[in-house]
Amino acid sequence: MLLALLLAPFLLLLLYFIVRPKPVTIPIKNRHVFITGGSSGIGLALAHKAVSEGARVSILARSLPKLEEAQKSIRLAHGVDVAIFAADVRDYDAVQRAVNDAGPIDVLVVNQGVFVPQALEKQGLDEIKFMIDVNLMGSFHVIKAALPSMKSRKDRRQPASIALVSSQAGQVGIYGYSAYSASKFGLRGLAEALQQEVISDNIYISLIFPPDTETPAFEEERKIRPELTDIITSSGGLLKADEVASKTLDGIKAGNFSIPLNLEGRMLTIATAGVSPQSSFLMAFLEVALASLARIVSLFFLWSAYRSVAKWHFQKKGA
Ligand SMILES: *[C@@H]1O[C@H](CO)[C@@H](O)[C@H](O)[C@H]1NC(C)=O
Repeated sequence: MLLALLLAPFLLLLLYFIVRPKPVTIPIKNRHVFITGGSSGIGLALAHKAVSEGARVSILARSLPKLEEAQKSIRLAHGVDVAIFAADVRDYDAVQRAVNDAGPIDVLVVNQGVFVPQALEKQGLDEIKFMIDVNLMGSFHVIKAALPSMKSRKDRRQPASIALVSSQAGQVGIYGYSAYSASKFGLRGLAEALQQEVISDNIYISLIFPPDTETPAFEEERKIRPELTDIITSSGGLLKADEVASKTLDGIKAGNFSIPLNLEGRMLTIATAGVSPQSSFLMAFLEVALASLARIVSLFFLWSAYRSVAKWHFQKKGA
């Protein structure tokens, strides 16, 4: 104990020098923020927030009527127009056209996502492919289309950002989420690798891990998810889209790589820190100090999840 206390200052000092990428702040005001999945839910809330902070905002989504509705709601709330682009992220040519028309992007928020929870055995391949194509391949499409103009932006001394909206299901696998989790875990690999590729262009990656959020899509999803999924995830709270949006934007501006949104999320992010970039030496210190505690908490979580699975199967057999 005493030894640990004596070592703490040295560890802090060491971490202060070695954490990477180095801390930055990413300005939003007067910059071009491009948000996919921007016509509803978290994306729309983010668009409102970015507009209110003085950004020039573009939103992309599949449905033109929904985009127009979103545009109207932002005009009513802030007296400002956002640019709208109707495109399916699965269609690379359409995404590229939209990104070209929108002009150079400073902050790219890759937020589109679809979610159909189901046990793998019961889930259709079409649904699995839908999630992988929209959530994972769609993110590649958006980033690949935007990257050239982001890299050649005029003021490269101003840091730029690519933010990917993952999910707590991108940190832990849950019953009924195999395809969704695969797509969201995939974003983490993409983000960690991409950060090394774009750091010399002064571009910073953020990875957001929202818990269940009150959105139109979540309401639909909740109706169909397996009973066991409900049982296992019942401890997680439900956040409001506005809350998610404002914490997300703050995290992006702080240049944070991992952006958890509530206490449970912060614990999960410490437990799954792995080899993720970390700019904050204080946070790095916490990750080091709490690593074994976080592992124990994770093991207890798993114990409880597996107990629910066993109990549920036992009751089903009994009935
Ligand atoms: C960004 O990261 C720092 C260090 O981990 C943390 O203190 C801060 O709360 C984070 N900001 C946001 C908005 O997430």
